[in-house]
Amino acid sequence: MDKFVIRGGNPLLGTIKVSGAKNSALPCMAAAILTEDEIILENIPQVRDIETERKLLESMGANVELGYGRAQHRTSIQCANLSDPVAKYEIVKTMRASSLVLGPLIARTGMARVAMPGGCAIGGRPIDLHLAALEKMGATITYDHGYIEARTQRLKGAHIVFDKITVTGTEDILMAAVMAEGETLLENCAREPEVTDLAALLTAMGAQIEGAGSSTIKVKGVDKLHGARHRINPDRIEAGTFLIAGAITGGDLNVDSCNPEHLGAVIGKLESAGARIDVGRESVRVRSEGHLKPVDISTEEYPGFPTDMQAQYMALATQCDGTSIVTENIFENRFMHVQELNRMGANIRTEGRVATIVGKTPLQAAAVMCSDLRASASLVLAALVADGETILDRVYHMDRGYERIEEKLRGVGAQIRRMGDVFGKR
Ligand code: EPU
Repeated sequence: MDKFVIRGGNPLLGTIKVSGAKNSALPCMAAAILTEDEIILENIPQVRDIETERKLLESMGANVELGYGRAQHRTSIQCANLSDPVAKYEIVKTMRASSLVLGPLIARTGMARVAMPGGCAIGGRPIDLHLAALEKMGATITYDHGYIEARTQRLKGAHIVFDKITVTGTEDILMAAVMAEGETLLENCAREPEVTDLAALLTAMGAQIEGAGSSTIKVKGVDKLHGARHRINPDRIEAGTFLIAGAITGGDLNVDSCNPEHLGAVIGKLESAGARIDVGRESVRVRSEGHLKPVDISTEEYPGFPTDMQAQYMALATQCDGTSIVTENIFENRFMHVQELNRMGANIRTEGRVATIVGKTPLQAAAVMCSDLRASASLVLAALVADGETILDRVYHMDRGYERIEEKLRGVGAQIRRMGDVFGKR
């Protein structure tokens, strides 16, 4: 199992580039199921979840090529024959977003068999809202030996009001609706840029969608979709993580190839904390002299402060002069990083969904463990300012969603190395 060794103390200086968004790429890859033609996706991040989705699509009979050389961020997917429309437990258990194939599979083949995702480190994460919507569209859902099976001749347009805002739920049902018979009206939809990105691809494939990016989406079903080429949005969470890296280290960092429009909530909080921010067309520069004020955050659906930035923000809060309150409203158990941050010298108390961070406390290097993707990022940020060498274990969590983060951070002055297994595999 790989580890990171990080020696803290260097301000990050220079330009760091943002990759394509994992959470856009995953639904866009699943959308390829909807057509026999080739789908070409550009700006695909090279992260482990993309590799997992490739395996998932291939296991169903798809032909997936991940580019190499100059085309290494391109993928071509062709689902001419879907011989086995099943998402097997072995894959679903490693990546919950596998449930995104449910909607497109049933739309294309009239049948989908998807392993029920279990709980995960950040909460229960059910998919009941996806299933209720599919039932409303005429699918019959049955449960059998840990699998969900959905069947129908052809999905029918329906009026669906999501009880709760769900990102992958909105995406899954949008993909089901584009080939349903008649019109579908989706209300209380997620407004995340990842939904808009997926809708742009589906539109390029011939779908008729209105209102993506707002809470009401109208879809007019079509009989057939065709091939398309689409460029994935920049990753707003990776960009936000880098902005915090610049601010926490007292650096001067230009976060390049991002979409500043998607970063409003994070930029706003950094400015309130006293960091200097300059917004360009596709870049954001962050500067800080190291004196930061405490600012409270409360996670919300987009355009609110993203839950996927909560852990990273908490690392920053440990270095602000005073008390910050962080409230997590989206997931019930997303404070796994707190104990590890406290082991590094932070002063954080949690009660239910609320964390109180008293700063500024000097952080000390320690051996710490990643528990999930964003928690890992918060530990890297803390290690960048800790005194001594932090050993970060289980960085495979990090590799799920951050492309070569150690190389990117090293390029702007961080002292960070990856250590592989000391002993080779037998
Ligand atoms: N929920 C239900 N029932 C459902 C679906 C969701 O109760 O059928 C609840 C969830 O338990 C949660 C809330 O609704 O409390 C929101 O969950 P949502 O469905 O929006 O989350 P998701 O779609 O499973 C995506 C991202 C997550 C990100 C969340 C919230 C992808 C692949 N994943 O998950 O990203 O945290 O939206 O923004 O897009 C990450 O990248 O680290 C990550 C976890």
